[in-house]
Amino acid sequence: MNEPTQLPAVTVVTGSSRGIGSAIADQLAAAGHRLVLVARDATALAAQAERLRARGAAALAAPTDLRDPTAAARLIATAEAAFGPVTAIVNNAGTAPAEKIERTSDAMLQETFALHVAAPLALARAAVPGMKQRGHGTLLQLASTAGLRGYPFTSAYTAAKHGMVGLSRALAAELAPHGIRVYALCPGFVDTDITRTAAAAVAARGKSTADQAFARMAAQNRIGRMHQPEEVAAAVADLLHRRPTGCVYDLDRDPPVCLDAEPDAEPRP
Ligand SMILES: NC(=O)c1ccc[n+]([C@@H]2O[C@H](COP(=O)([O-])OP(=O)(O)OC[C@H]3O[C@@H](n4cnc5c(N)ncnc54)[C@H](OP(=O)(O)O)[C@@H]3O)[C@@H](O)[C@H]2O)c1
Repeated sequence: MNEPTQLPAVTVVTGSSRGIGSAIADQLAAAGHRLVLVARDATALAAQAERLRARGAAALAAPTDLRDPTAAARLIATAEAAFGPVTAIVNNAGTAPAEKIERTSDAMLQETFALHVAAPLALARAAVPGMKQRGHGTLLQLASTAGLRGYPFTSAYTAAKHGMVGLSRALAAELAPHGIRVYALCPGFVDTDITRTAAAAVAARGKSTADQAFARMAAQNRIGRMHQPEEVAAAVADLLHRRPTGCVYDLDRDPPVCLDAEPDAEPRP
């Protein structure tokens, strides 16, 4: 186990206007991180930053559409101008399109990959040179059990989350010698807008009520119930502060399980 960072924590949390990202922002603010909050909805994000500042936290709203490939460099520059070197990035922003395969378009696949895979890679590209210089940094991805196994009607999302887990493993292997830790956290279904919207969509098709659909999702979790955003946020805060070795963490276990304790050391063809 590593010692907690001695650097002032400057953490970019994407998707922090609501849901899991909001819970992460709350817990990191309470732990003294200076936060750069990211989402598309500028009004919601400004309200979130204001709420955190009212509690004495340092929080900057940086409204951004992370599907824009040019956004990452601007975002890291904005963060560093406001608070100094970025010590951690929490790639939490996400959407979860649900569609049967016949209606899963190339555009849907590309958009999902842009947000879940290309954006974390672009943010790493922008932040890693500084982290290497300082010999310290953390990149953490909010993946999913959909990054570990398949779920029906979510081929774009499941493929993108597997991509996110693979990206995290590659970054962990490459960046460990530079003191940079990389994690992918994999919760099952969490009680947020994504699951509530999916349950409402099932209800709209007349197959069952939204409550029944929600209960079926909860039952698919190996822990046998919905995860709560605060539980996921606590796991994020724990990893950022303890910085253990190991990259991919299955949170749908009680207690959570690390799936690979040591990154591969050698480049592979
Ligand atoms: N809920 C679950 O069951 C579950 C399970 C496992 C993993 N996860 C993962 O956990 C993460 C958070 O999910 P959640 O349930 O908290 O979702 P949520 O409540 O819908 O929040 C999603 C956040 O991402 C932001 N966002 C979406 N598209 C964006 C874009 N293009 N650019 C910048 N920000 C964007 C949203 O703000 P704007 O809309 O304003 O942009 C919002 O702040 C996601 O990566 C998701 O895949 C969720």
